[in-house]
Amino acid sequence: MGSVKKVVLAYSGGVDTSVCIPYLKKEYGVDEVIAFAADLGQGDELQSIRQKAIDAGASKSLVGDLVQPFIEDFAFPAIRANALYEGRYPLSTALARPLIAHRLVEIAREVNADAVAHGCTGKGNDQVRFDVAIGSLAPDLKVITPAREWGMSREETIAYGERFGIPAPVSKKSPYSIDLNLLGRSIEAGSLEDPMASPPEEVFEMTSSIDQSPDKPQDIEISFEAGNPVAINGERLEPVSIIRKANILAGKHGFGRIDIIENRVVGIKSREIYETPGLLLLIKAHQELESLTLSADVLRLKSQLEREWSDLIYKGLWFSPLKDALDGFFERTQAVVNGLVRVRLYKGNAIILGRGSTTNSLYMPSMATYSSDDQFDHKSAEGFIYIWGLPSRIWAATKRFQQQN
Ligand code: ARG
Repeated sequence: MGSVKKVVLAYSGGVDTSVCIPYLKKEYGVDEVIAFAADLGQGDELQSIRQKAIDAGASKSLVGDLVQPFIEDFAFPAIRANALYEGRYPLSTALARPLIAHRLVEIAREVNADAVAHGCTGKGNDQVRFDVAIGSLAPDLKVITPAREWGMSREETIAYGERFGIPAPVSKKSPYSIDLNLLGRSIEAGSLEDPMASPPEEVFEMTSSIDQSPDKPQDIEISFEAGNPVAINGERLEPVSIIRKANILAGKHGFGRIDIIENRVVGIKSREIYETPGLLLLIKAHQELESLTLSADVLRLKSQLEREWSDLIYKGLWFSPLKDALDGFFERTQAVVNGLVRVRLYKGNAIILGRGSTTNSLYMPSMATYSSDDQFDHKSAEGFIYIWGLPSRIWAATKRFQQQN
């Protein structure tokens, strides 16, 4: 990599990305490392992270506030897509990666860097997401991935860092690997590596345990316009605020914990704990409103495409032709997703109590009712069923004929 002089590094403040700084300079002969830390609403001390990068030898340390685009351009599309990887994980980490990659590339252009770098290991999904996103946004930019190449154990990494004045992580007591942002937390490693071991209560921060959650249920109302959540209990909220509010409400009642065995892009199964209270609540409510406002065939196809979309995002293909095309389909479906959903939060549950739409409900009482107001033409059913079942009757008759001869 002889010619690399200036690198923009995706920086988190953790040991791995900190060690990347002296490592890039020493082992790759990089002159200037510019650290970039993204504020995704994780509530970290970003000023101290800024200083950490300088202490580790960065020539410049930038913090970028990406909370609003993160929620508006990444979380909201995921809600409209009811995005759940393998039917369960709402992609809280995955959604942040293309945004960070995008900003990394922008900064690289601004400062005239000849490469970008990240501290992802070779076992995870994040390396795939960063590399693919950067590769499609800026094919000419080199991507340097020290942590994928250095082959150091965690202990060796810490020791390497200490040689360059990077303090060993103080919280030796936390054996977990954690990623967090406004959408949620992902927790791996430590005792969680045993799929049979239940997650200790200490790993959770955004959600209460069932024991600690209120004994009284709380009923709330979530309003949507064109598939976007816009209000809770009648109070209109900006996208970022509605996520915060949903996090607090759902978290308080212990809703939004996920414990799964997940299939990574690189082919391994891993045990993942997530807490994504607000996002999961909003997806659930959104899904419910769609059941009232979208036709059966649109719902059916959309649910298949949702699975595709979630797979793409998980696997790092945010910037891809299929994602783009699917967005077109989803976009077209969402204009009618207007209305509200009533949800009861109680002891780890979000129970749907009701859904309504004054403008777009496809539920027709005169068709559905069993009372005397019924307008449905019962007699038409007979002719419909005659034709609907015709192929089955022909097939069965043929089989009988074959058996008898
Ligand atoms: N398994 C999750 C995902 O792929 C979480 C990854 C967490 N990343 C991390 N660097 N700790 O989205």
